[in-house]
Amino acid sequence: MSTLVYMKMLEQNPVKYDRGMRIITVGRIDRIKREIATAWIDPGHDVLEIGCGTGSLAALMTARGARVVGIDISDNMLAAARRNAPEAEFIHMTATEIGMLGEGRFDRIVATLSFSELSEDELDHVLSTSFVILKRSGRLVVADETPSTGWWKRTLARLVRWPLASLTFILTQNTTQALKMYDQRVERVGFRVVHRKVYLLGTLSLIVAEKS
Ligand SMILES: C[S@@+](CC[C@H](N)C(=O)[O-])C[C@H]1O[C@@H](n2cnc3c(N)ncnc32)[C@H](O)[C@@H]1O
Repeated sequence: MSTLVYMKMLEQNPVKYDRGMRIITVGRIDRIKREIATAWIDPGHDVLEIGCGTGSLAALMTARGARVVGIDISDNMLAAARRNAPEAEFIHMTATEIGMLGEGRFDRIVATLSFSELSEDELDHVLSTSFVILKRSGRLVVADETPSTGWWKRTLARLVRWPLASLTFILTQNTTQALKMYDQRVERVGFRVVHRKVYLLGTLSLIVAEKS
């Protein structure tokens, strides 16, 4: 089977996509999603999920009693999300359009492995709009690729990342970029970083920022 046919098959198959993400993150992403749903989401919260993918996190958050709106640009992902999290609402929308969802509407905005698919300008726009559409003291909960610090960790991370990045490309036809200067960027638009946990030599982080 040619790589192109294989890639197209995966594109049509969000179940395999999820499995691929699990392999890429050595299972950490599932644990992080469970942690987000239990530690950062309360029953009754209004939550926006950006780049919801197959809805696995949305399902955990609705089970916790939150009202969830998920957005994504992929019709295939949204179809899977509607099956996996029937209690959530899903909208075909690009991340840069979230402003139209309404000012001061959400208690939480969550994004796992989707900010790294945005360009630098898109990310800055999404961060400043997130600040506007969150309620006062609302939180932006992000788990994504981050650059590791220290030369030996960076070198080791590059060695580990090379096959993983290739696999990401095969699975998603997307290159991703680690979130650079993320703290400075969120703080520039008015957030305060209140929590950080790192995984996989610092190449994956859970970062929570509060609208102060
Ligand atoms: C690597 S997947 C992660 C999916 C899910 N959040 C997870 O952790 O399993 C990235 C998701 O972001 C979506 N995405 C990429 N660019 C986007 C954009 N500009 N606006 C909204 N969603 C986007 C993709 O379609 C894909 O579903």
